[in-house]
Amino acid sequence: MKAIAAAPGKVILAGEHFVVYGEPAIVMAVDCFANVIVEHRHDKCFYIKSDLGFSGFYSKERFKPESGGIEARTLLEPIRISAQAAIDRINNPTGLNITIKSEIPVAAGLGSSGALAVATVAAVGKLFNVNFTNEELFNLSFRAERFVHKKPSGVDQAIAINGGLIVFQKEKGVTPLNVISEIPIVIGNTGEPRKTGDLVNAVKKRRERFPQILASLIKAAGQLTTDAIKALKSCDLERLGELMSINHGLLVSIGVANKTLDKYVHAALEAGALGAKLTGAGGGGCMVALTTLNNSENIADAIRKVGGEPIIAKKIEEGVKTWTQ
Ligand code: MEV
Repeated sequence: MKAIAAAPGKVILAGEHFVVYGEPAIVMAVDCFANVIVEHRHDKCFYIKSDLGFSGFYSKERFKPESGGIEARTLLEPIRISAQAAIDRINNPTGLNITIKSEIPVAAGLGSSGALAVATVAAVGKLFNVNFTNEELFNLSFRAERFVHKKPSGVDQAIAINGGLIVFQKEKGVTPLNVISEIPIVIGNTGEPRKTGDLVNAVKKRRERFPQILASLIKAAGQLTTDAIKALKSCDLERLGELMSINHGLLVSIGVANKTLDKYVHAALEAGALGAKLTGAGGGGCMVALTTLNNSENIADAIRKVGGEPIIAKKIEEGVKTWTQ
């Protein structure tokens, strides 16, 4: 028997980085998925194979690469951590074959590692017929997220588990946002990989150098997200767009934008986007533009013309789902 889990990627419409300091963020699940397939093995080994060309065997803590050399370990380790967390919780020490097939661009700010961690835990649960609660899924997948991102807020697993449109805040967790209007977005991928942990750390250092200024920016970001929630609830996409552009300005101020992201943001706005900002950790990765349904292609063209890879993405209501084969 095979157990399969699919968890969605995400865009952050408001509040990344500031969410690490306790402010709310608005996050939307999008229609690209991390898929994880697990099967029993009759030894205690984990064999992990990723569609990025990396594979290897874990026996206890020892790793033997099959393809991809030692780099494979860095890439596969979060999957091992997630699978081990689930196996420990189920209390059934056993071996697993784990196969990863992900449509979510890696290190691009679209929540690839969070979705993979959640899908791995959920797939192992399904294989053993154990239904993890959302809280268990969150806590078990957080181990791998801490390994990858050092001090993450938990926002990426939260959206991969819940799907839809949510407000995430460290203290309060997830509040689903029921919005009746469509939220048409175009993502622009710079193709410049970056590490979330490094960017979160760079913000921490800026905060240590300028504590009062950062305190004001963090407070402003909290107010911005609160206003953006109100705009969404009243289906005022023009106001939401303007708030997203202000949010980009705040992200520039804390030092996580870059030239390419700024270029795509301006190109999208000039092509008539209601608002645009970087999404995720920044420093490369992706930006997101809010558009109207009939202008998405125009915005995508504008992003393409300045060198970006546009993705016209849709909201996905469902969070991680599992099935057997
Ligand atoms: C990454 O998707 C969002 C950040 O705010 C980091 C985090 O919240 O863990 C940059």
